[in-house]
Amino acid sequence: MTQTHTIARPDDWHLHLRDGDMLRAVLPATSQHFARAIIMPNLVPPVVTAADARAYRDRIMAAVPAGHDFTPLMTLYLTEDTDPADMAAAHAEGLISAVKLYPAGATTNSASGVSNFDNVAPVLEKMAEIGLPLCTHGEVTDADVDIFDREAVFIDRILDPIRRKHPDLRVVMEHITTANAVDYVKANDKNLGATITTHHLVINRNHILAGGIKPHYYCLPVAKREEHRLALRAAATSGDARFFLGTDSAPHTDENKLLPCGCAGCFTAPNTMSILAEVFEQDGALDQLEAFTSRNGPAFYGLPVNTETLTLVREEATYPAHLDTPEGPVTIFDPQMTLNWTA
Ligand code: DOR
Ligand code: ZN
Repeated sequence: MTQTHTIARPDDWHLHLRDGDMLRAVLPATSQHFARAIIMPNLVPPVVTAADARAYRDRIMAAVPAGHDFTPLMTLYLTEDTDPADMAAAHAEGLISAVKLYPAGATTNSASGVSNFDNVAPVLEKMAEIGLPLCTHGEVTDADVDIFDREAVFIDRILDPIRRKHPDLRVVMEHITTANAVDYVKANDKNLGATITTHHLVINRNHILAGGIKPHYYCLPVAKREEHRLALRAAATSGDARFFLGTDSAPHTDENKLLPCGCAGCFTAPNTMSILAEVFEQDGALDQLEAFTSRNGPAFYGLPVNTETLTLVREEATYPAHLDTPEGPVTIFDPQMTLNWTA
């Protein structure tokens, strides 16, 4: 008899959809499995105003394939010029679900991010007041901080002071990559959650650097030592409601990944659910998959769990190496393991 595993339909609490041809090419991979996703605002130029978010939401909705049911949860890109009134109005009308903090220069298209955190204090105060979550790209950008330490240093130097100054601010530590971040979340009961990507549950830094450089495993925050990957696995599979899935699926064409200065990002949307089922089963925690992908995120964001379901079938799944797009092929993340569950 075929074995199946049915869960409430999942959501992706951190997703890059891009725009134009790329948006139309990658969105179906997400909307075939996911009901909702928090949409990252790091377009060029970024999504900074309510009007930008409304227009981008409309472009996403126009790209949803017939027969798919998908709701984009929009975000604003926090800049030192963000207008608290415009942001609050966007939240009040249900247009935005979060605001995204990129330290200036931290990653892809983050040039408009924040340099002086004092300048965004009034915006953060407003967010705390109205209950609008702040999603953080948690890496400092100081040239003298080692890239493998940037997340841990961000927690100490930026995040913890912000949370002390604005104790009512709801914060999501996005795509955590270290045991330090796991420990910080666990030590803080109130107003704090964290997303974990699919790829950070699978790769450590050896996958990027040992035996030749592998640009398709390069993302930000960069994958860390094995002990950190294991801490992320333990957090994700624990059922702890503070940890939930944010794939950070981030498509770049192969041409842009394979440059001498290649882009950061792993494209995991097509095979994420197969990989996660495999990872959770390997850890004897298939019964916790639904909490991670479908329950903990809605609980944090104060949204209902999806009433529809997704059924995984115990059948070997294979995926193509690339998704072809009008801009060129985009490599699909290779987890280097047999996937025994088809989504
Ligand atoms: O690897 C990444 N890619 N990390 C980010 O923070 C941004 C993302 C992108 O937009 O490509
Ligand atoms: Zn991201």
